[in-house]
Amino acid sequence: MIQFPENFLWGSAASAPQTEGHGSSNGKSPSTWDKWFAMNPEKFNQHQGPEHTSNVYELYEEDIARMQAIGMNSYRTSIAWTRLLPDGKTVNEEAVAFYRDYFQKMKAAGVEPIINLFHFDMPWWLMEKGGWEARESVTAFSFYAKTAFELFGDIVSTWATFNEPLVHIECGYLYEFHYPAIVDFKKAVQVGYHTLMAHVHAVKAFRESGVDGKIGIILNVTPAYARSDEPRDLEAKEKADLLNTKSFLDPCVLGTIPDELTALLKDNDLLPETAEGDKDLIREYTVDFIGMNYYQPKRVQAPVNPKTPAAMPEDFYAPYDWPEKKMNPYRGWEIYPQALYDVAMMMKQDYRNIPWFVSENGMGVAEEERFMDEDGMIQDDYRIEFMQDHLTELHKGIQEGSNCFGYHTWTFVDCWSWLNGYRNRYGFYRVDLEDNYARSLKKSGLWYKELSRNNGF
Ligand code: NOJ
Repeated sequence: MIQFPENFLWGSAASAPQTEGHGSSNGKSPSTWDKWFAMNPEKFNQHQGPEHTSNVYELYEEDIARMQAIGMNSYRTSIAWTRLLPDGKTVNEEAVAFYRDYFQKMKAAGVEPIINLFHFDMPWWLMEKGGWEARESVTAFSFYAKTAFELFGDIVSTWATFNEPLVHIECGYLYEFHYPAIVDFKKAVQVGYHTLMAHVHAVKAFRESGVDGKIGIILNVTPAYARSDEPRDLEAKEKADLLNTKSFLDPCVLGTIPDELTALLKDNDLLPETAEGDKDLIREYTVDFIGMNYYQPKRVQAPVNPKTPAAMPEDFYAPYDWPEKKMNPYRGWEIYPQALYDVAMMMKQDYRNIPWFVSENGMGVAEEERFMDEDGMIQDDYRIEFMQDHLTELHKGIQEGSNCFGYHTWTFVDCWSWLNGYRNRYGFYRVDLEDNYARSLKKSGLWYKELSRNNGF
């Protein structure tokens, strides 16, 4: 029997833009996703845009009952910045009423709300001024954060500033999966720096707000494993970890930007513009906890023909196709549960054993209807096995003293996922797009209920 610590958080994560729907109504102004879809619907899988999500805006009460039904004691979602502050300054009272009722009802049902502020949904009005490239975004975000703490701080006590900050940076400025979909390493670094400063200012606003609670950040962790012990491969691994792990973990937890990272950026003419006093703020406003989204590791080797100065991260480390890797046959990502143990140990040894939780872990499956039985239930044994294997590794880390306080899956109800639309399903509940977003429980939901009831398996 694998037993988790008392008061362990069991639950799931999602986000406002991926679940609420009503993207351009009820007082909400457009985010980059609403606009990008309107401009280029053909980029999105089956032309499904952000309007096409699981309609939580109307169905949240039913969904809270579903959370209870499968034993969730916590749930992370986000506030849509453009719903709360459509022009960046004026509060939308309809949004306040919606979020207050949503969060209050969650709490009353014994589901602790963990509320995140930014989940890739940059307001369009701010994008027109340069988005995260402009220092103004830092001020705009800290005003939004302060407003949210004032409006909901009496209900919500666990807050996060950003979800996976590296993702909007990489996808928007290197790999063309998010708007503005450009390729520019120097801009990517600047966007990353402003995101970090926006986070730091939000933590400052939280400390000054007097809210009785804690604040953290949700990071995507992709531990790097080198092809071999040869110095060139190990150096590639170091650089991958600097850019993908330490770049946010170090400042957020330790209050410092690693010197090696600054040197690497300097040598490649990538240093961002900074403002006076930034360093002191970074040092002072560290977080109370970390959320780690883990899906798969990075396998790396020395770059093949690196450019100097580097034009892409691949000039620092090249992807390596590890022949022994186990793949998710239904989506094509590597499955490597052992990394969760390594992450647990890293948090203990390198990050002052700060409280942390697995804030996302899950298995995406394309065409999941093929696993539906004659009663209409998805028999997702592959997902149960995936989660059990990850929990086993996590448990090992906790036994060895890592300060992990929860395990959240992605996700609770199948949801819309950016350019992929509904291609890969992750939920404990299936959503039927043909039948007005009707939800039906999958086998994994029943399993999760037992898991949370027994606090282990
Ligand atoms: C990470 C993100 O937080 C979320 O938005 C995304 O849909 C899932 N992972 C699944 O890829």
